[in-house]
Amino acid sequence: MKSIGKIPSHIGIIMDGNGRWATRRGLPRNFGHKEGVKAIERTILACLKYGIKYCTFFAFSTENWRRSQEEIYGIFSILRDYLSDPNNIFMRNKIKVDSIGIMDPFPEDLINSINNLKENTKDYENLTVIFALNYGGRDDIIRAVNNLLSSNKQKVTDQEFLKLLDTKEIPEPEIVIRTSGEMRISNFMLYQLAYSEMFFPKTYWPDFNEKHLLKIIKEFQKRDRRFGGVH
Ligand code: FPP
Repeated sequence: MKSIGKIPSHIGIIMDGNGRWATRRGLPRNFGHKEGVKAIERTILACLKYGIKYCTFFAFSTENWRRSQEEIYGIFSILRDYLSDPNNIFMRNKIKVDSIGIMDPFPEDLINSINNLKENTKDYENLTVIFALNYGGRDDIIRAVNNLLSSNKQKVTDQEFLKLLDTKEIPEPEIVIRTSGEMRISNFMLYQLAYSEMFFPKTYWPDFNEKHLLKIIKEFQKRDRRFGGVH
């Protein structure tokens, strides 16, 4: 592991710009998603190198069902190939895989391959990679509230509420990165990112690499995080 000073424990990534990356090259949009997997692998290896403990990739949002069937099934097929590869990056590097969101509407074999990978990696501790799959921040909050309403609890604290969200014991992200220059949260972890530091590099996701991540970490180290207080 390479020591470079204060390291965020959790980074959340909104992988934007895959479609534009492909369109610019005259390719179908799913080529951008496929190329995006290489950026996921580069990022995972960089997280291991710098000792980041949690990294969440926003792979499919509750709103992504609005895309064409062709694109949706293209993403499913990329996910399936990637997560069912027996020689995957997770097993090779003792990385725990987790997911947030409700996978129920996904094809059954895809759900099975994700669940198998989660089961096979559950004791690994080098890094936890979380895939947000059919995830929405509002949906996460609403499900937590509905669970509360059907329980006997009359009141909860902030810390108790955090444990009711899909992220449960996972720390809140200290850094959220959205690539491609768009500056929106698009329903990503709405409750958990109350004090996250936001970064909006112009790079399209398929071009994102270790250098971009390192630049963000260096910038994060310079930011004055006051959490509403004063120094
Ligand atoms: C956003 O870019 C990207 C997505 C909605 C899908 C991300 C999916 C992958 C990288 C592939 C599968 C994931 C894993 C975990 C293997 P966009 O399509 O909105 O880009 P655009 O704004 O340029 O159109």
